[in-house]
Amino acid sequence: MKAAPRTSGARILGACAMNVIRRRGWEIPDRFATPEHLAFSRRTVLTGAASALALAPYAANAQRLTDVANLPDPSADLYPAKRNEKYALDRPITDEKVNGSYNNFYEFGTSKNVTTAAQALTIRPWTVKIDGMVEKPMEVGIDDLIRKLTLEERTYRHRCVEAWGMAIAWTGFPFAKLVEFARPLGSAQYVRMETFLDKKMAPGQRQPWYPWPYVEGVTMAEATNELAFLVTGAYGHPLARQHGAPLRLALPWKYGFKSIKSIVSFNFTDKRPRGMWEALQPSEYGFWANVNPQVPHPRWSQASEEIIGTGERRPTLLFNGYGEYVADLYKGLDSERLWA
Ligand code: MTE
Repeated sequence: MKAAPRTSGARILGACAMNVIRRRGWEIPDRFATPEHLAFSRRTVLTGAASALALAPYAANAQRLTDVANLPDPSADLYPAKRNEKYALDRPITDEKVNGSYNNFYEFGTSKNVTTAAQALTIRPWTVKIDGMVEKPMEVGIDDLIRKLTLEERTYRHRCVEAWGMAIAWTGFPFAKLVEFARPLGSAQYVRMETFLDKKMAPGQRQPWYPWPYVEGVTMAEATNELAFLVTGAYGHPLARQHGAPLRLALPWKYGFKSIKSIVSFNFTDKRPRGMWEALQPSEYGFWANVNPQVPHPRWSQASEEIIGTGERRPTLLFNGYGEYVADLYKGLDSERLWA
């Protein structure tokens, strides 16, 4: 990714990405880290109750986080959902463990392994706001929303702009169903989505050089395309936090940064939304971001991709192989930067 402005001696990461110098301080949230004075106490803890007392706050905090993470998911009974066989894959599904430990979720760190850090994400209660150009703005609890719509499983390829790919069995519902539920006005042309903003919970959001919260947007035609999928689960159970629980997007024909995680709002608008990566690095990350092997990223080729967990490289497919569903969306838009 392009070198970004320097801030306090650390360079910004590029979208999803990547191989720019990283500031790793937030990879382990402060509250997971043992304060130095407690680390010293550990050496003596076996010899005295006083040391045990000194460790108590740390232990209590860690226990609380574990308890929260282990609460049963109120939507668990909806899984596994019936698979929609229409969206068959040309490759095996990526192993769940591999997938669950190789993620981009900058709110919880810039390393690919944010699995532990992301467990701090509180996913209930979770309210989704629907507003802007709609008949009636509303707020809806995630469980009410999930139970209003029928869940299905779909296997999709997933292609990150960093030139790697995976294949995932997502569970969720078509974005078109959310649009129907929202009852947008005829004047709405785009849907703008936002991720939560909570600096206490998400240490990455304390890094001021990112324009938080994470924002992404699509046209109404993209949102209502049959492939656009709002995801609540994966691998036959509710979505793991590191994948963007409790609600994220999957747009398999676009680079992965368009698939915003942990969504809290859908705003229907007539203004083209500016995504977080576009705001940060417009020369590298645009609004459309459709996958195209022939259009390199300014700093690397997109001709092939690494299939995570296999060591294999495969040629990149135009629209990530989904052209039959989406190519028509872009007819007559040749003057737009459709591929970055
Ligand atoms: N959404 C939020 N809120 N924060 C992020 O950092 N990363 C994006 C996208 N959505 C990201 C996000 C990028 S770059 C990719 S490739 C995918 O999420 C990664 O999804 P995965 O970790 O489930 O594979």
